[in-house]
Amino acid sequence: MFTSLLCTFTLLFPLGHASLPLVINTWAFKNATAAAWSVLQSGGSVLDAVQEGCARCEVEQCDGTVGYGGSPDESGETTLDALIMNGDTMEVGAVADLRRIKNAIGVARAVMERTDHTLLVGESASLFAENMGFPAEDLTTNKSVNIFSQWLGSNCQPNYRKNVFPDPSQHCGPYKPRAMLEERERARHANVHSHDTIGMVAVDGDGHVAAGTSTNGMNHKVPGRVGDSPIVGAGAYADSSAGGASATGDGDIMMRFLPSYLAVELMRTGADPSAACKMAITRIKRHYSEFFGAIICANTTGHYGAACNKSPGFSQFHFMVSNSESDAPLLKSVDCF
Ligand SMILES: *[C@@H]1O[C@H](CO)[C@@H](O)[C@H](O)[C@H]1NC(C)=O
Ligand SMILES: *[C@@H]1O[C@H](CO)[C@@H](O)[C@H](O)[C@H]1NC(C)=O
Ligand SMILES: *[C@@H]1O[C@H](CO)[C@@H](O)[C@H](O)[C@H]1NC(C)=O
Repeated sequence: MFTSLLCTFTLLFPLGHASLPLVINTWAFKNATAAAWSVLQSGGSVLDAVQEGCARCEVEQCDGTVGYGGSPDESGETTLDALIMNGDTMEVGAVADLRRIKNAIGVARAVMERTDHTLLVGESASLFAENMGFPAEDLTTNKSVNIFSQWLGSNCQPNYRKNVFPDPSQHCGPYKPRAMLEERERARHANVHSHDTIGMVAVDGDGHVAAGTSTNGMNHKVPGRVGDSPIVGAGAYADSSAGGASATGDGDIMMRFLPSYLAVELMRTGADPSAACKMAITRIKRHYSEFFGAIICANTTGHYGAACNKSPGFSQFHFMVSNSESDAPLLKSVDCF
């Protein structure tokens, strides 16, 4: 899935080379990195950089997992989650289960700057966005219709239901509860192919930090499902007195551990960014040894790192970095542990 992206492999650069300003983001989403970097280069703020970077992925439908036309839910609809955080003021804006609006990170920014709230959800979030002037558009594409109809054609499998009876005639919903069984192996569904949120951290020359995320969630999710991406401290966290972090992977599990918050707090106490990332993953691993997930971390001096959990089909995590070490965004990778 990464081979189609034309990125310079620069494994010779050791992780953690530091210089400011810095943009770092999850996965090989190079154009997002470049967009954020160009905002910083032209004197824009770290918030603007994170917003533009994530918005680029929303437009490009990065890996089909960000923006419109991906990850149709059980009813075939694409819904979006996004978050943005200002590490100077600790303000956060987020949206979840957003419908009909393509620019989810833009709406998150509007929640932060045009309301006293932090998180708006569902249909009401969409109405807020429309009132703020975001165009209402259909998020469905031929591709998302295809994903959805293939899933219907395979009796709505795989799905995220457990301990329920499906309608016997359709093998799909409506579902009825039944006696609790053992939890099924989640890794089968929440794998590297179903969830590649963009998460981004930007740090400027004065150490101001911002972080953000944008995603369309998981294929065939139960309608109403919200992942980790729009949850502050889970999908991302920023504090200009410590650093920033952003996580990606099986959000249903990861959000239970607030990995981005944990990593930033560890960096505050002096942990190296790579070590902080690793510790945040280790905390989850204790309970879910095979969970799919990764995290990026950066501190206020521009040192950065990443970590991922070794799980079926996932042994190496790719992420992008832009700083003054190079003219173009660098593709980096870290081996999962
Ligand atoms: C990245 O941007 C370039 C230049 O605009 C474009 O040609 C390319 O298709 C983009 N990559 C992706 C994955 O969209
Ligand atoms: C989507 O599918 C319809 C018919 O199924 C077709 O007419 C249309 O050109 C397709 N659109 C794209 C963008 O492929
Ligand atoms: C950032 O991390 C590096 C590498 O561990 C460390 O040398 C540096 O002091 C840290 N910066 C801050 C502000 O803690």
